[in-house]
Amino acid sequence: MSEGTVPVLILKEGASRTRGRDAQRNNILAAKVVTETIRTTLGPEGMDKMLVAGMGDVVITNDGATIMKELDVQHPAAKMLVEVAKSQDNEVGDGTTSAVVLAGELLSKAEKLLDQEVHPTVIVEGYKKASEKALEILDNLAIPIQRDDEKVLRLIASTSMGTKATAGTSEHLAKLATDAVSQIVEERNGKAIADIDRVKVVKKKGESMDQSELVRGIVIDKEVAHPQMPKQVRNAKIALLNSKLEIEKTEFDAKININSPDQMKLFLDEEESMLRQMTDELVKSGANVVLCEKGIDDMALHFLSKKNVMAVKNISSGDMEKLAKATGASILASTKDIGRDALGEAKLVEEVKIGDDKLVYVRDCKDPRAVTVVIRGGSEHVTDEAERSFHDAICVVRNAIEDQKIVAGGGAPEAETAKQLREFAMKVGGREQLAIEAYAEALEAIPLTIAENAGLDPIDIMVELRSKHADAGNKWYGVQAKTGKIADMYADNVIEPLRVKQQVVKSATEAASMLLRIDDVVSSKGMKEGPPGGMPGGGMPGGMGGMPGGMPPGMM
Ligand SMILES: Nc1ncnc2c1ncn2[C@@H]1O[C@H](COP(=O)(O)OP(=O)(O)OP(=O)(O)O)[C@@H](O)[C@H]1O
Ligand SMILES: [Mg+2]
Repeated sequence: MSEGTVPVLILKEGASRTRGRDAQRNNILAAKVVTETIRTTLGPEGMDKMLVAGMGDVVITNDGATIMKELDVQHPAAKMLVEVAKSQDNEVGDGTTSAVVLAGELLSKAEKLLDQEVHPTVIVEGYKKASEKALEILDNLAIPIQRDDEKVLRLIASTSMGTKATAGTSEHLAKLATDAVSQIVEERNGKAIADIDRVKVVKKKGESMDQSELVRGIVIDKEVAHPQMPKQVRNAKIALLNSKLEIEKTEFDAKININSPDQMKLFLDEEESMLRQMTDELVKSGANVVLCEKGIDDMALHFLSKKNVMAVKNISSGDMEKLAKATGASILASTKDIGRDALGEAKLVEEVKIGDDKLVYVRDCKDPRAVTVVIRGGSEHVTDEAERSFHDAICVVRNAIEDQKIVAGGGAPEAETAKQLREFAMKVGGREQLAIEAYAEALEAIPLTIAENAGLDPIDIMVELRSKHADAGNKWYGVQAKTGKIADMYADNVIEPLRVKQQVVKSATEAASMLLRIDDVVSSKGMKEGPPGGMPGGGMPGGMGGMPGGMPPGMM
């Protein structure tokens, strides 16, 4: 603003603005606070979070993506970390906590460099170089695998699930995840593609997690449509219909004048015969199970039940598509198109009662291209968390099958990458060398945090880890949280897909660089109050510049 004269207003009244180092500091602080909250969940000994929503709903989880989503943070910089978790989750399904921890660490190392008067652009450039090099190092470290190597796939799934509360029974779920994904892999243009949307997950409270089951077919959350119909059909021939089995109502109102009981009877007979024709067509095709996306007329149900045909109505279109993939049936728009080759097959279709709910299981399809996993567990919190960790597990199995490259876990690849990055930094020299070294240190936060969460002394661990990695033969040494020792994680069967590790580097670097480039934060007046449901402590008093005062003391 010009001195001594009337200030020139370019922003609306009430808007606030933070600039330069203040803006950077505030953003970094907010990001660090978020990181602090979730870093304690990293690794197999990481703790869980209990998140209570406004309505009193409770979520208990260890999953980074879920915590970040439920936190409902308001600070714009903190929101960017939520985005990191989201993108990590979308891209690779696992490693969300690691990505946020790395991003937070990159920012706090950057803060130190800013204090030493290193310009943000230099830091961002250095980080970029470092991340490119890190991706290359990781790629060189990776071990190739066969995509049908069931043993390795299972280890990958159990490593991922072993860090969650469900760890105790994760072996069983890990096997289900491996079997499920292996079943739906397809070859496209010479590449293996595993579309995990084809693994349907159904969770039902009750029994224990060991009772969870892989169904080689689809489980539908519906019941058999008529009480007289069979509840079990063996060697099922399945017709899939996406039109209703009812008499079409005309689009506009029509009036029919009926003057005598005979005419009435004729009219009803005609309706009946149309329905009978439709059901006859179905029965003649050889179908003994009819699965319909829309409604089915009571009369039609009656006819079908007389012929011992099982029918289920109002199935979601998503389930219909999966049913087609699982049973090999084509989805028909009308019973007229039906022929034997349009029918799908399953060894058994049955209605099963779980608790109060009835479900229809389409089981034992021949080479199904879509499958279902039914997750059981003592309570809803258990099945919810099991579903989340199961999602991570099928994602990591998919990643490994598609890329056929793995690394060990337990912070080993991060420690090794850090070591090699330091050697690289020496070659680069100059101020960027500082940034690359800072990047290497930030990577070491992963093994350090795993160690810290396992109750180990981070400094001892770091010293030991670095001295191990000084020897090129020890590249897979990391923190074995189960024993509290530095160990060869590859030999210990702690294995992860390369894709997860690389995505952690990518998403964390992107977010950190973006925040570092910001040197001016302008917030409009409306932000002052902080939107409802914001962070406890009043959202962001004083606009975004008021961050430190706005955080609850416990979170600092
Ligand atoms: N037995 C083990 N000892 C040490 N570290 C392990 C062990 N098993 C897994 N890990 C490591 O734990 C880290 C993963 O922890 P966690 O699953 O809590 O977080 P994430 O995968 O980053 O995020 P999220 O699973 O929440 O999306 C990985 O670095 C993995 O190698
Ligand atoms: Mg994980």
